[in-house]
Amino acid sequence: MEKQIEHFLDEEENQYSLRPQELSEFIGQEKNKEKLRIHIEAAGQRNQALEHVLLVGPPGLGKTTLAKIISNEMSSGFKSAVGPSMIKIELATILTNLAEGDVFFIDEIHRMQPQIQETLYPAMEDYKLDLPVGQGPSADIIPVPLSRFTLIGATTREGLLAAPFRDRFGIRIHLDYYTVEELKIAILQNSEKMNVEVEDNAQFEIGLRSRGTMRIAKNLLFNVRDYASVKYDGVVTKDIALEALNFFQIDELGLDEQDRDYLRALIDKFDGRAGLKSLAVAISEDERTVEEVYEPYLIKIGFISFTPTGRVATDRAYNHLGYKNQTLLEL
Ligand code: ADE
Repeated sequence: MEKQIEHFLDEEENQYSLRPQELSEFIGQEKNKEKLRIHIEAAGQRNQALEHVLLVGPPGLGKTTLAKIISNEMSSGFKSAVGPSMIKIELATILTNLAEGDVFFIDEIHRMQPQIQETLYPAMEDYKLDLPVGQGPSADIIPVPLSRFTLIGATTREGLLAAPFRDRFGIRIHLDYYTVEELKIAILQNSEKMNVEVEDNAQFEIGLRSRGTMRIAKNLLFNVRDYASVKYDGVVTKDIALEALNFFQIDELGLDEQDRDYLRALIDKFDGRAGLKSLAVAISEDERTVEEVYEPYLIKIGFISFTPTGRVATDRAYNHLGYKNQTLLEL
């Protein structure tokens, strides 16, 4: 029993240490890192809190990791919350407990209720919280002073933020999909930390199927490692990596069964053209997941396009799934 607990703790420790702790360890996003370094150093020179930061980009590119790194680099405290579930009292409690220079990270900030967003305006701008006291016409607003803190918001949908809210972030960082080379570096580093031997061309095959996304690269590495250790002796060669990826139904473009279900539904049920609502119902997903998780990558690889009459599957998507070309069918 004791052994098991020890093992569990080791794993936890291991998972934690897989996250980079400093900007210099964060792979890729070079221009963004340079910008952040400048802002962090300038804030340090002035002995001020860093300006508020908005991190924008698809899921899995490392927004949370980057927020923690910023806090480490500023040697500040770190508090976090999730936008959609946040209520006023939670926000007020966190804000009033922040120390000078602390980082307050809000994930999915575009899904925060509008009234709560508005509570943040005076907090971000003047470091004060307008606290209502009493009810009805006699209610008073008491401004409560706050420490100078840095709000870091993460969003997959910058366009959904109200303009006055977005404009209150002095630093805006747009994260890009990673190149295969960058993902390969991360796969190598993570495999070394996990003590797993992954051959160079196996790193490449995993990177190629990671959809430009750091989180997917790490997850595929964990899956392939498990497969190699159960079916083979643990070393991940190119052939074993390909066999494992095939077993987990990840195709050569990194699409999984869910992506293929989406494309098949679009093509088979709607003749290659459908609205978001119909598609989401057809694959039993909620619309937000379809928009934020499935579609960005399918657009990036040119498998779907958005038109005024709905999502359209392109010839590439038809070919990839082994259908005859859409244009050929129409002839
Ligand atoms: N984990 C999440 N994003 C990362 C990155 N860009 N580099 C290294 N590890 C990461």
